[in-house]
Amino acid sequence: MRQILVTSALPYANGHIHIGHLVEYLQTDIWVRFQKLRGHRCVYICADDTHGTAIMIRAQQEGREEEAVIAEMKEAHERDFAGFDIDFTHYGSTNSPENREICHLIWKALRGADMVVEREIEQLYDVEKETFLADRFVRGACPRCKSPDQPGDNCGNCGATFSPADLIDPVSTLSGTKPEIRRATHLFVQIEKLHGFLDEWTQSGTLPTESANYLKGYFLHEPLRDWDISRPGPYFGFEIPDSPGNFWYVWYDAPIGYIGSTKAWCDARGENYEDWWRDPETEIHHFIGKDIQYFHTLFWPAMLKTAGYNLPRFVHIHGFLTVDGEKMSKSRGTFIRASKYLEHLDPAYLRYYYASKLNSRVEDLDLNLDEFVSRVNSDLVGKVVNLASRTAKFVERTGLSATYPNDGGLFAEFAAQGDAIAASYEAGDFHKATRAIIELAEKANPYIEASAPWELRRDPEKAGQLQDVCTIGLNLFRQLAIYLSPVLPRLAHQCGELLNAPLESWADSKTPLTGTPVAKFQHMLQRVDPTKVEAIIVESREEAPVASAPPAGPAFDDGDQPLKDEPLADEITIDDFGKIDLRVARVVAADEVPEARKLVRLTLSLGGDERRTVFAGIKAAYEPADLVGRLVVMVANLAPRKMKFGVSEGMVVAAGPGGENIFLLAPDSGARPGQRVH
Ligand code: MSP
Ligand code: ZN
Repeated sequence: MRQILVTSALPYANGHIHIGHLVEYLQTDIWVRFQKLRGHRCVYICADDTHGTAIMIRAQQEGREEEAVIAEMKEAHERDFAGFDIDFTHYGSTNSPENREICHLIWKALRGADMVVEREIEQLYDVEKETFLADRFVRGACPRCKSPDQPGDNCGNCGATFSPADLIDPVSTLSGTKPEIRRATHLFVQIEKLHGFLDEWTQSGTLPTESANYLKGYFLHEPLRDWDISRPGPYFGFEIPDSPGNFWYVWYDAPIGYIGSTKAWCDARGENYEDWWRDPETEIHHFIGKDIQYFHTLFWPAMLKTAGYNLPRFVHIHGFLTVDGEKMSKSRGTFIRASKYLEHLDPAYLRYYYASKLNSRVEDLDLNLDEFVSRVNSDLVGKVVNLASRTAKFVERTGLSATYPNDGGLFAEFAAQGDAIAASYEAGDFHKATRAIIELAEKANPYIEASAPWELRRDPEKAGQLQDVCTIGLNLFRQLAIYLSPVLPRLAHQCGELLNAPLESWADSKTPLTGTPVAKFQHMLQRVDPTKVEAIIVESREEAPVASAPPAGPAFDDGDQPLKDEPLADEITIDDFGKIDLRVARVVAADEVPEARKLVRLTLSLGGDERRTVFAGIKAAYEPADLVGRLVVMVANLAPRKMKFGVSEGMVVAAGPGGENIFLLAPDSGARPGQRVH
């Protein structure tokens, strides 16, 4: 029996749970349920992430204590999670005495390892609101890849982390004003001291390959920058014991919340949390989204290592949710809260749909609403539940046959698939697992079809045959219900009730059930009603905020020089414009051209295997390595041009006069390589 501790990222206490979050919590819940079904001891720990400026500002605005705000949100979060059958072993809070205690312990270890330094830094200050502007309250262009409108702590485009003062053209989101720079003392953790360890640990099978390669290519090839771990008060968080007036930055105490929450649970039960966090036999598994990898794959292991805690056995990293191919959007009604979904639809649908789309790669996942309806209806209602609804009622009085009849090898074949399906679950490839299960269902249905129990029942002489056919149908249904039970716990429960034998372990799929009574068949899963999906969208739609007048003051006083430098061109028709085929492309490689001072050789992907080589004169403005991975816009139908160093097969689109002042255009996130720009 393995001893496994599993976590999902701790959701921020300043917002409601939405269907994007649920990708992660459902993925984790399915994996945990799978482990339990296999007979392992597996606990699922989570908590609300409560500290930071956002909660502080909100509490101020609402005239309440922070504690009141976070208590209310915790209740809402827990209600939403329960509504989706997400079964935490413990759901705690980072604002707890246990968490504070572990924060102190780890701090002591960091100090002991001489990893903390103090430095005066320049920080952005909102003069109007009289507060230092942390992290997410400043937006501006990324100093690394220059992608616009990024938050002040890390770039959603290239993943770089930085401090808000590094942003290009910052704007305070609290007041819309341009912040001023002030000096303050901060504490830094020198994770560079663990460079060698991190190099090894990140490359030792603890992360998805893409992530390991990404870290190696981006961050670990140069010295790791000191991590700014403190914020001057006022700040809602824990005060640093040996640095009065300074508080730990929320990203210090948030991951420690995994341990703090475990400790709260253990303390209440008389267990020792160190059995989970220091015993090398325990496997730690984190589930997180790709946006927070940096924190979990560099800072967090560095802290654990320093304090002598267990390192994660594996960090499972998923991509982001899009709805019908686009980023969730309030104006389109696709920014759907968990609670809104539950007003209209059965959680089983989303559990199954996400499972059918999730694999072990770090890929974005699309909720296609038409596919959602058709896949659930066709797979679950049409192929799985169908097996029970077409047979159970005929054996209500007799129960299952006393011995398992000859089914031509179906049950044995289904049982034989169990190991492969389990391996897919274990690897986080739920797509493959559900595919295999539905393929089995597709073999069971023709058997029922051909045996036609609804005809057998008309002939009293065939009562024995009828019972046998239904015994087979229900046993095949039961095998599928076991295989699906991590995804569909309610269906598994209903199957147990129907056949008077609860589904308790994966191994139950190996032995047929015989001679047991069969309960009256109750409806198990309704078809998805598309009008309810529509209702959710309509009710989630929020009026796009009316573009508010720009605030008075210096925020948007853009100069007129660019237009003077380059006046507008002659008018063209829409057809003229249509001739230019602009496409979203991803930079998959960027190399210097040693012979050319200005040029970078870009390899652009248009999706699939489509690649284009483009020579771009952007070397003065961009470090080639910083470009890899980002999206750009290219002119895709430009006649190829022969240059000294090779053929250039297009152009990337950029603004600015040239030299260091070149700004590549980037689509908003959600866009995909190959999409045309109209
Ligand atoms: N509070 C931090 C995590 C601290 S962990 C020590 C945080 N919170 S969050 O509420 O913004 O996100 C929680 C998790 O949900 C993250 O792993 C994040 O990647 C995931 N998701 C949030 N929105 C998502 C989508 N739209 N799609 C997929 N996952 C998403 O980050
Ligand atoms: Zn960036």
